[in-house]
Amino acid sequence: MAPRWTYIDPAIAFSPMLSFEVVIMALLGGAGSLFGALLGAVPLVLLFEVLTANFPTHFSILLGVVFVLIVYVLPRGVIGLFPARPREVPPVAAAPANAKHDGAPLEVAGLRKAFGGLVAVDDLSFSVKRGELIGLIGPNGSGKTTVMNLISGALSADAGSIQFKGRDLARTPAFRIARLGLARTFQLVRVLGSMTVIDNVMPGFAFRAAPLTGAKAEAAAMALLARVGLGDKAALPATQLTYIDQKRLELARALALDPDLLLLDEWLAGLNPTELAQGIALIRALRESGITIIMVELVMDAIRSLCDRCIVMNVGRKIAEGPPARVLAEKEVVRAYLGGADA
Ligand SMILES: Nc1ncnc2c1ncn2[C@@H]1O[C@H](COP(=O)(O)OP(=O)(O)OP(=O)(O)O)[C@@H](O)[C@H]1O
Ligand SMILES: [Mg+2]
Repeated sequence: MAPRWTYIDPAIAFSPMLSFEVVIMALLGGAGSLFGALLGAVPLVLLFEVLTANFPTHFSILLGVVFVLIVYVLPRGVIGLFPARPREVPPVAAAPANAKHDGAPLEVAGLRKAFGGLVAVDDLSFSVKRGELIGLIGPNGSGKTTVMNLISGALSADAGSIQFKGRDLARTPAFRIARLGLARTFQLVRVLGSMTVIDNVMPGFAFRAAPLTGAKAEAAAMALLARVGLGDKAALPATQLTYIDQKRLELARALALDPDLLLLDEWLAGLNPTELAQGIALIRALRESGITIIMVELVMDAIRSLCDRCIVMNVGRKIAEGPPARVLAEKEVVRAYLGGADA
């Protein structure tokens, strides 16, 4: 406004109507795309000029009508009328790191993350083969969740690389990592409490290689909710779920993405013995369906019965790696869990 009138009038510059006009422009073009916003701006600026000149007293009412029309007729904007461009995922064969390790979908090398002076992950390297179920274990504060956050893009690494499908995840934003087929659950659950259970699952389908929408997505969401034991709770607000059920919901949301690699951060924690047996069976079934899984877990029975290999961390470093039965008996691992004096 300032270049146009050479001064700033707070009544105009901070008018809610101005913000509303901008929102309508973005909606008309397509709120999710820069090009969409440009598409919406040109015709609407012209329309607003005509409306303010001819109907100055009814302008805000007309603006509301335009808004409602756009929401009903073009919910995804003009850009939504065009078919979405298929997302580009580089072929696995193009991955230089994977080429060296045939069948290794994840290759972590020299990973480091510090929070101020505290080094949470220190020069960590490991690889995961396709279809493997890996346990990432270690005492409290050893850096397990930080590793999950680095792999899923919730945190950016200070150094090192995480190769997955030809991309270095350490330099890839979280939403692109999800689109590559990597899903996760959180140690401290993150569900959208004001939305229903089924609506929490639906966004997962948008991140698939072939996104699902509408009735197909709803049917698939119901099937996933039944699979995790929430089939009868689909219509409840997510806040009404118990903490354990919120964990189940997070798993359903992660599976909606149809992941190749699934990260579970203490997903079994807090389950009673019956639920634990069901949870273990569910994770085993997921693995048998071909999903590669990395699970952070404190329940050692689950680690023993599920994992091919486990990686043990202590103070940010890998201290052991191998089959659970052997690794859990290693002196250094016992010492890390029990403390030096008790070991
Ligand atoms: N965002 C953060 N800011 C500062 N310090 C952090 C942050 N996240 C983690 N830390 C610290 O990094 C260290 C590793 O934390 P992390 O949560 O990765 O451990 P963990 O192995 O998952 O522990 P737990 O078994 O308790 O879940 C801890 O000392 C923790 O306090
Ligand atoms: Mg943790």
